[in-house]
Amino acid sequence: MALYSEKVMDHFKNPRNVGVIENADGVGEVGNAKCGDIMKIYLKIEKDTITDVKFETFGCGSAIASSSMATELIKGKPLADALELTNKAVAEALDGLPAYKMHCSVLAEEAIKKAILDYYEKNGIAYDKEKFAESECHACH
Ligand code: FES
Repeated sequence: MALYSEKVMDHFKNPRNVGVIENADGVGEVGNAKCGDIMKIYLKIEKDTITDVKFETFGCGSAIASSSMATELIKGKPLADALELTNKAVAEALDGLPAYKMHCSVLAEEAIKKAILDYYEKNGIAYDKEKFAESECHACH
């Protein structure tokens, strides 16, 4: 069996939603200290719905594929749904990632949460702190 699914390869080679949103409503940047990879997510939000999303990822192929898939999964969705997106769901949507690459999908979950948090804080919106507790890799732990 190939190491990476066709979907991973597709999203790695043709990533969706790459770029920057000027005047984004929320921006989240996270990094993985071990591998040094960085992911940045930009959100445009209207009436609690993500109307646009873009990302910049300086990282491995799995991180790029995860960012691409994650942006597709949250585009047009209510913030509440985006907050529920787990790294496991991102990996499943990609038809799986090798176990030692699951941490790459965690970056996507964390970057989205951070961007939403940024939006809440910039706009003085009250939020449930529990939803922003340090996320952990739902597959590796
Ligand atoms: Fe760093 Fe994949 S190896 S995010």
